[in-house]
Amino acid sequence: MGSDDGKKRRVELSLYPWVSAAVVVVVLLALVQYRKRVVEPIRRGDVTAPRTSSKPAPEPSKPASEGALKALLLEIAAMPAREALAALDRDPLGVEAVQNASEWACPTRERLVARVPNVDAERGLRFRREGAFLWFEHLSKAGGTSFCAFARKNVGARRTPPYYCMPSDGAKIAGTDGRVGRWKSAQLREYVRRTKHAIVANEWDAFPGLDDLRDDAVLATVVRDPVDRLVSAYKFWGRLHNPNKKNPRSAQDWLGMKDRAARQRPHRRFPDDFLSQVGRNNFAVWKFASGGGNDKFEDCGDNATCDREALLVAIDRLEAFHVAAPMLWQHAAAPLYRRLGWTDTAPVHRVPTGTIQNSDAKLELGQDYERFREANVFDYVLWTWLRRAFLERVRCPRPPIDDPP
Ligand SMILES: *[C@@H]1O[C@H](CO)[C@@H](O)[C@H](O)[C@H]1NC(C)=O
Ligand SMILES: *[C@@H]1O[C@H](CO)[C@@H](O)[C@H](O)[C@H]1NC(C)=O
Repeated sequence: MGSDDGKKRRVELSLYPWVSAAVVVVVLLALVQYRKRVVEPIRRGDVTAPRTSSKPAPEPSKPASEGALKALLLEIAAMPAREALAALDRDPLGVEAVQNASEWACPTRERLVARVPNVDAERGLRFRREGAFLWFEHLSKAGGTSFCAFARKNVGARRTPPYYCMPSDGAKIAGTDGRVGRWKSAQLREYVRRTKHAIVANEWDAFPGLDDLRDDAVLATVVRDPVDRLVSAYKFWGRLHNPNKKNPRSAQDWLGMKDRAARQRPHRRFPDDFLSQVGRNNFAVWKFASGGGNDKFEDCGDNATCDREALLVAIDRLEAFHVAAPMLWQHAAAPLYRRLGWTDTAPVHRVPTGTIQNSDAKLELGQDYERFREANVFDYVLWTWLRRAFLERVRCPRPPIDDPP
């Protein structure tokens, strides 16, 4: 499944070869011009944000713009980590400059995302079709506990699994997490029909892809700045809930230890050691790319080709998500939830234990902060992609869903 599914028009090449040749020349010229005017200035850092119009624009009509921003991000991902981060800091996608995501203006031409998530699934949830449900991909320490509370306000507690929205079938300790991320689709389908639960959450396993449930599953997730999330995981599990509370390891030590363990102990073979995954570098790429049988993305080692391939898979899968919200922009996600028929769309901020805190990663890591950013460069590319994709999903026009199926 590519980003250009069903979007690109085919040119009939057999009937009028000379017309076709002329079309090809014109398209090539347009592409060259486009590169000159749009892509190169962005790459040089002359332009900090893509040009925007004052009001939402119609669907883009120029195929030349499709893919250019994504190609730029992939070029950045191919640079050495320090250069890549410097390029991202120049804000080529205009995400750092956003003051209020609800007021972002959809650009007329340059779009990052071409694909539209499955509308049948949204409609199914909205009109309570049997078998329709929302899959929440929970990245630990990115606001997922609040998401469950938020979902309950909207669909009712009876339509959600009682344990943090995670189905408990087959749990080792009854009533806790049955690890829905490891289930076969048939089991998930049966669960949803039997329990009539509208939400299922997957925290400890990688996203399994769910390709054969696309018409029934609304996909949602919340993502956070990669190093902020790591430091928050450290504060929660490495300090607050550390059995050796009096003498905790430093953030650097704890995170380094988790990252090594995650690579030495692939999750498919050590499914109970989820904490190591939670503290690993490039956790979001791992979470979105390595599930559904993509075992090689458990640990790419020093192979940058493998890392970039994982990044592409993660982007490709996230393109299918109906809601992929940056943690601190969740207030702007209301239009996406309203499509599901949800009306109580003010975000909830709830934590399972301890107090709400926004960890200050720079303060915690000090001079090691940049080193951690570099070690998470693929997550930073994904994080940049995700914020821009979110803005487009929220602010660019989409087909309405008014009619029952
Ligand atoms: C963001 O913009 C929306 C829409 O104009 C507005 O309702 C909201 O109050 C703004 N939020 C902040 C924090 O300024
Ligand atoms: C690196 O990863 C790529 C993509 O997964 C793979 O094709 C290639 O064989 C790997 N190279 C090495 C040396 O392992």
